[in-house]
Amino acid sequence: MLSPKEISLAAEILAAGGLVALPTETVYGLAADALNPQAIAKIFEAKGRPADNPLIVHIAGMQDVCTFAKNVPELAAKLMEKFWPGPLTVVLESSGVVPREISAGLSSVALRMPSHPVFQAVLAALRRPLAAPSANISGRPSGVAAAHVLKDLGGRIDAVIDGGPSEIGIESTVVSFLDKRPRLLRPGAVTLEEIEQVLSAVDVDETVLKNLEVGQAASPGMKYRHYAPQAQVTLVSGSTAAFVAFLRGKVRDGVWALCFDEEVGALPVSALAYGSEKSSETLASGVFSALRQMDELGAKEVFVHAPQQTGIGFAVFNRLLRCAEFRLVKLCDDE
Ligand code: TXA
Ligand code: MG
Repeated sequence: MLSPKEISLAAEILAAGGLVALPTETVYGLAADALNPQAIAKIFEAKGRPADNPLIVHIAGMQDVCTFAKNVPELAAKLMEKFWPGPLTVVLESSGVVPREISAGLSSVALRMPSHPVFQAVLAALRRPLAAPSANISGRPSGVAAAHVLKDLGGRIDAVIDGGPSEIGIESTVVSFLDKRPRLLRPGAVTLEEIEQVLSAVDVDETVLKNLEVGQAASPGMKYRHYAPQAQVTLVSGSTAAFVAFLRGKVRDGVWALCFDEEVGALPVSALAYGSEKSSETLASGVFSALRQMDELGAKEVFVHAPQQTGIGFAVFNRLLRCAEFRLVKLCDDE
């Protein structure tokens, strides 16, 4: 664990308007003082992030919600109480306290209370909220290790705190409370099933599984290509037998399969496992590193065996579908 000196150094840099990449329980975040518009501008610049894609504001505790949001629905409070601190972000009406640049001009604000001890310690030392998108160049797989952050952002940021590999491996669940019914904008480790238990009814935004036209998306970030390595990615669903048969027609240079641990030796093309078919948690924590490795291995075309769409598997499926720009092949023995 980190020394108090490193925490206070990170807080000093952030207080002076600098950028520090910090570990969270989901992925690494590129943090800046959420109340400092110049610092926020630096985030957009360092990531090459489109200015119309708003940032999440990370807060230290429930007491901060009413500072940054207004008209907080009871259901939102229930969800926060159940899953905070943790991998849940809620979109609420903004109180107007956070600068417009964070919310890309929207009248809403996305709030999250992370559970990672390093992130919490920095928030406590700084005593201000932190804007923190995933610490990667825009469009690339999110960074889930300090080395990924340095590869993408080295030279563009002031510091990174190395907290080891990210535990969950994919970004937080985002739920919007701006409409009458709560709406899932991005699936994550807090699963749809778990949210339904608390809220009884939640709509799944169309953009979770569909490519909508620019301007239609409720979550602005959803209109961009995301999470992608340089290779062309195709998501393939079906049994191992069907996946093997499908890949037999794809044997050529630069073709890779991203597959399950259980099938890695059985495929007719070069293969890298991203986790176990039996544990979607391992697929979540392995998926972004595996996508990055595809670049290092010089892959030109990648066929990814799709996970089950239940639990956190639904979130992994969502990330892979976007990284494949919605190219999905359903093999015929698939239900
Ligand atoms: O787990 C996470 O959420 C990580 C860690 C670092 O906390 N952060 C993260 O941030 O994934 P980012 O910027 O990569 O993704 C934020 C997502 C984007 O899809 C963005 O469009 C959406 O949240 N978002 C932010 N503010 C919003 C708002 N006011 N309304 C709708 N969507 C919003
Ligand atoms: Mg991101």
